[in-house]
Amino acid sequence: MREIEKSKSNDIDMTLHSFEETLIYESHERLAMLIPFMLIVEAAMLAITFYVRDAAEIKWINGLFFIYSTLIYLAINIVDTADVDFPSKFRIMAALQMVTTAGVLLWGSSMLGYKSHSAVSYFDFVIALFITGVIIRQKITRWGIYYIAVLTYLYFLTPFERTLADDVFLTWMSLFLFICTALYVNWLLYRQAGETYQVESELKYQKKMLESLVEIKTSELIKTEKSMTREVAMLLTVVMEYYDEYTKGHSENVAQISESLARAVGIDLERQKEIFWAGMVHDIGKIRVDKAILNKETPLTRDEFEQIKNHSLYGYEMTSNLESLKRISKIVRHHHEHFDGTGYPDGLSGDEIPLEAQIIAIADAWDAMRSDRVYRKSLSVESARLELIKNSGSQFSPKCVAAFLDLECANK
Ligand SMILES: [Fe+2]
Repeated sequence: MREIEKSKSNDIDMTLHSFEETLIYESHERLAMLIPFMLIVEAAMLAITFYVRDAAEIKWINGLFFIYSTLIYLAINIVDTADVDFPSKFRIMAALQMVTTAGVLLWGSSMLGYKSHSAVSYFDFVIALFITGVIIRQKITRWGIYYIAVLTYLYFLTPFERTLADDVFLTWMSLFLFICTALYVNWLLYRQAGETYQVESELKYQKKMLESLVEIKTSELIKTEKSMTREVAMLLTVVMEYYDEYTKGHSENVAQISESLARAVGIDLERQKEIFWAGMVHDIGKIRVDKAILNKETPLTRDEFEQIKNHSLYGYEMTSNLESLKRISKIVRHHHEHFDGTGYPDGLSGDEIPLEAQIIAIADAWDAMRSDRVYRKSLSVESARLELIKNSGSQFSPKCVAAFLDLECANK
C-alpha cells in the first residue's frame, strides 16, 4: 500500500487506504479547520473580557492565553509543512490542539468566577489531558473526536453555577453527561465514517471488476485478431506456393529462421510472432508478377528483373490493405533493402530499415543459398556463412549477421 499522503491534497485516493488511515486523514482535515477557528474565538474572548464588568482579575489569563494560542497556531503551521510522516504530524497537531482546549476550559471556568476554585481547574485539566491521551493513543479512530464534545461542554453544558459549585452530585452528574455526550457524538461520527468507507470500497471493487472485464474482452479481441492473422497468412502462403514453385517450403523456412534470429537479437515474443508471419508472406507480391518470368529457367533480362523487384511493393500494397496483416506490411515492403542503401524499393540504409526486415533479409538469403536452384546447386554451410560475412555491412546488418552466425541453426 502506498504511503498515506503527506499533503492535505483534496485528490487523495482514499480507496487505496485502510479504514483507519482514512479516519486519520479525515480527522487531520477537521483539526486543520478547527485550529484557526479556535484562534479567532480566543481573540474574541480577549476582546470581550475588556468589556465584562469585574473581569479584571481574569484579563491576565486571556492575554497570556491569546499569545500562547498564536504561538501554537504558528507552530502547527510549521509542523504541517515539515518533512515528518503523516501520522506523527497529526499526533503533534492533536496534542497542541488539546492544550489549547484546556486553556479554553480554564477560560470558561474563569469567566464564571471560578478561577480560584481549584476543583474546577483540576477538573478542566484532567478532561483535557484525558482527551489528549485518548487521541494520541487511538489515533483519532473511535474516540478521537472528543474535541467536539469539549466544545459542547464549554458552551452548553458548563455545569458549575455559582450557587451549585460545591454540590458534589451535580459535579459528577455533569461529568457523566459530558462523557455520554462525547461517546454518542463519536459513535455517530464513527458510524458515518464507516458507511462512507464501505461505499467507497464498494465503488473501488466495482471499478476493479469493470477494469478486469475490459481487460478480458481486450485480450479476447487480440486473440481473435492474432488468429485471423495466422489464417490469412496461411491462406496467402498456400496461394503463393501454388503460383510459384520455387517458394514451396521457402516461406516456412524463412519464417522459422527469422523467428529464431529475432529471439537471438532480443526481440520480444509479440514481435517474434509478427516476424514469423511476415516471413511466411514476405514474397506474396510475386503473385502479381508474370508466372513465366518467375519460373524462367534461363537468365533474366534487365526488364524482367525489374518486374520481379516490384514484388516487395506489391506485397506491401496487398498486406497493408488487410487489417490483420497491416502491422507486418512494412516488413514485407523492406525485406530487400540493403544495409548500405543499395537495395529496393526505397533505398533505405542502416537503422532506417525496420529491424524485422533486416532479419528477414538474412533468413531469405540463407535459405536461398542453402537450396538447389535450376541454375546451381545449393551452397555448403561454410560457403553460405562466408557469403553472409562477405556481405555483412553492405547487404546485411552486421549485428544481425553476427547473431545469426552464433545460432545453432546456422551450423546445420
Ligand atoms: Fe523477396
